Amino acid sequence: MRKLLSASLITASLTTVGLLPPAGAASATTLTSPATTLAAAAERSGRYFGVAVQGYKLSDPTYAGILDREFAVVTPENELKLDATEPVQGRFTFAPADRVVDHAVRLGKRVRGQTLLWHSAQPSWLASLRGAALRQAMLNHVTQVAAHYRGRIQAWDVVGEVFADGPTGARRDSNFQRTGDDWIEAAFRAARAADPGAKLCYNDYNIENWVHAKTQAVHRMVRDFRARGVPIDCVGLQSHFTANHPVPADFATTIRNFAALGVDVQLSELDIEGSGATQAENYRRAVTACLAVDRCTGITVWGVRDSDSWRASGTPLLFDPTGAPKPAYTAVLDSLNGGACR
Ligand code: G3I
Repeated sequence: MRKLLSASLITASLTTVGLLPPAGAASATTLTSPATTLAAAAERSGRYFGVAVQGYKLSDPTYAGILDREFAVVTPENELKLDATEPVQGRFTFAPADRVVDHAVRLGKRVRGQTLLWHSAQPSWLASLRGAALRQAMLNHVTQVAAHYRGRIQAWDVVGEVFADGPTGARRDSNFQRTGDDWIEAAFRAARAADPGAKLCYNDYNIENWVHAKTQAVHRMVRDFRARGVPIDCVGLQSHFTANHPVPADFATTIRNFAALGVDVQLSELDIEGSGATQAENYRRAVTACLAVDRCTGITVWGVRDSDSWRASGTPLLFDPTGAPKPAYTAVLDSLNGGACR
């Protein structure tokens, strides 16, 4: 009588030759089933998906529910700006930002800080300072704020928007710029000294199209900083897109060329005016450009619901005013899930 092979011997043989998954292995559907949140889908390709947060809206259950479910990284939208953190020279107010940071940290989320030095959102006392006194005040601001959040900020936008729009690639005229060309690197060095563990970013808008003069000017600055050992770790491409400033065809080229300088690249303030399928496709294009470059480490959308946006009339975000996901949300989630399968 033919000896019957035991079931366990058959199973072992099929496992050995790879026809059966090892015992206890997740089922094939678990490994390839799409992630159901933006953060989880981005994590599949080692990236983060974040959002700008307005602290006073954390008491809104719809707002906080979306934030807590969908996003892994939080940027206080205004609470870390100069006017919010040092409204009077030498007197620092951190409570509004702490509310956002504490909420994020409590939920295991990471925090992007914005912006240590910026030509906008300045308190009135800064306007009265010039020269060495202004330079000292600027660097003290960087030091005090970065030190207060030491160990709790994943990345700082140390400086933002220092180049003028237009064909020249010139620096923007500002009180900080008038203290001398070296103010930017001085800010980065002060931030590194205050919080050695935070990634230090330069953040700007209209630097998504590779051939634009402003993009080239930023790229030259970052290349120079890297060559001279100025501590810079990342570049934030704000990615505010509209019908007149669409997602450029060479977006991935821009991201790749910044990454080639040895820095991380982040879409730091993504929002795209529009609606429906056209908006969804534009979001898909922006996300796909990031997924195409390994050192594009994360994406932050600049607000939760359309009604939370700095430009609400353009309905530029992923959730509608009721908190319902829009076609753009589905396109982003689908792109991020596809990105994981690269
Ligand atoms: O908090 C005050 C409130 O007390 C006052 O009653 C009200 C009316 O005056 O103003 C409130 O402050 C406003 C603040 O947003 C908070 O809502 C400021 O006026 C307003 O200028 C500020 O706008 C922000 C803007 O940056 C300027 O700081 C937007 O929300 C914010 O989305 C926008 O974000 C910037 C990024 O930081 C940098 N990149 C560009 C991006 C869009 O401009």
